[in-house]
Amino acid sequence: MTPPTAPAAAPTAAEVRAAVDAVPLWYHSIDLPHGITTPGWFDLRPIIDTMPWPDLRGKRCLDVGTWDGQLAFEMERRGASEVVAIDLKDQTQWDIPVRGRPLAAPVLEGMVGEDKAAGFTTAHRLLGSKVERRAISVYDLTREAVGEFDFAVCGSLMLHLQNPVKAMEAIRKVTTGHFLSAEMLRVRATLQHPRRAVALLEADEGLVQWWHPNLAAHRRMVWAAGFVTEKQSRPYVIRLGEGHPTGYTLKERAFALGRRALFGHHGLPHVSLLARVDHTVDAVAR
Ligand SMILES: C[S@@+](CC[C@H](N)C(=O)[O-])C[C@H]1O[C@@H](n2cnc3c(N)ncnc32)[C@H](O)[C@@H]1O
Repeated sequence: MTPPTAPAAAPTAAEVRAAVDAVPLWYHSIDLPHGITTPGWFDLRPIIDTMPWPDLRGKRCLDVGTWDGQLAFEMERRGASEVVAIDLKDQTQWDIPVRGRPLAAPVLEGMVGEDKAAGFTTAHRLLGSKVERRAISVYDLTREAVGEFDFAVCGSLMLHLQNPVKAMEAIRKVTTGHFLSAEMLRVRATLQHPRRAVALLEADEGLVQWWHPNLAAHRRMVWAAGFVTEKQSRPYVIRLGEGHPTGYTLKERAFALGRRALFGHHGLPHVSLLARVDHTVDAVAR
């Protein structure tokens, strides 16, 4: 008979600090034991409650494009019975515009290092999380691959996808209840076109950015993918975290000033939509 293994001792502050420092890039600012916070590129902590979360207690939940896992850990904290978090295997699998590939792919890979999941794995261990991370693209979500979820969240991903509506359709295929879509907001186009769905096509050489929607376009994408929006957050800004690269261009500084004036601090403007699966779509599609 194998002897029972002793429970692992809680990590000391020095161990937590060393584990955090060993991760080349933190995307999220995550609170860990001993009052240590990861030096993320983005700090979701002040806005996470602004997102219109439904009651997740006892629900099977999916986080799409999890990176370091902050939204997945949040669902676990909110009482989800099971959380699956998906992301790509490595950085080169992003939907990089073809002209940007030679430039963007090595930069993206160099930033993160060999292990795209390093931050997630470290935070997961230090938080004692049970979230299951799977390396799978949103486009490849099927019930055969991941099963079915009561709830799905996806944050700040659609901008980076060539085909955001197809991605949302794939999320719908594996979701039976609600979908929380938290995406970047094109503020000027929202003010100029409050009712018209307008998305700016970026697709330039240096960035992995495709469609930048105004509010109406975000709502339309969710609708086109077969959901019905039930709630909408107020617009909010995701602040740049401690680890965010500095050294802004003049244009970026001008944007920063504008955002400070509009939202009170610099960061990336977002809005969250809580939508339910529209089951009448399946009847139409048949
Ligand atoms: C901008 S980050 C957002 C991270 C997190 N969802 C949030 O809201 O803070 C986008 C994440 O989506 C992942 N991603 C990019 N393309 C993807 C795809 N096709 N399928 C799944 N994840 C993808 C990236 O690797 C990255 O981790």
